Amino acid sequence: MTCWRLTASLALLTLGLAADWQFLNFGRKDVNFNCPKDQMLSSIFSIYNLFNVDRMWSFGCTPFPSGDQLGDCSWSVDYVNDWTEYSEYQCPLHAVLAGVHSTISMDHMDRRMKFKCCKFSKNILTRCQWSDELNGYKVSLNFSLPRDTLPAGMKSHFDEDKKDRIFKMFICSYSKL
Ligand SMILES: *[C@@H]1O[C@H](CO)[C@@H](O)[C@H](O)[C@H]1NC(C)=O
Repeated sequence: MTCWRLTASLALLTLGLAADWQFLNFGRKDVNFNCPKDQMLSSIFSIYNLFNVDRMWSFGCTPFPSGDQLGDCSWSVDYVNDWTEYSEYQCPLHAVLAGVHSTISMDHMDRRMKFKCCKFSKNILTRCQWSDELNGYKVSLNFSLPRDTLPAGMKSHFDEDKKDRIFKMFICSYSKL
């Protein structure tokens, strides 16, 4: 089997496994994702595209629990990170992640990110912590929000050699006011 054939087969295999997911960014496009009203980010799936030296992203949402409504949504003012730099973002108090934006630089083979957070009113956060690493370099990322938790932030660091980021989520427990 020639090398390009093998590569093509592997790529198809990877895409086949991920066929249930609608990726937002084939081909180095911006990522723009918003949860529907009163929903928060609850799943993330991403695979590393070796041809583009970039990740493809897909997100899912779930209704905010216990009937609370989400309002007062806002995007982080500027990009959260510089090219190739450490990135860390936490939603303002009493708010959860509900949107993600990113844009790519061909020079750096990296993405800068913005996040959208929406406020809730009938619950309080009881405990927050950073998750374990969600992915390894250049391999898929498959995150589902644990039961009875809220997504309140995301951080990542970039590796110059691997041209990829490793991500962690900031996850909180909550209780009804
Ligand atoms: C992602 O993880 C979920 C369980 O959390 C699993 O059901 C699903 O099959 C996984 N998807 C992929 C493509 O590995």
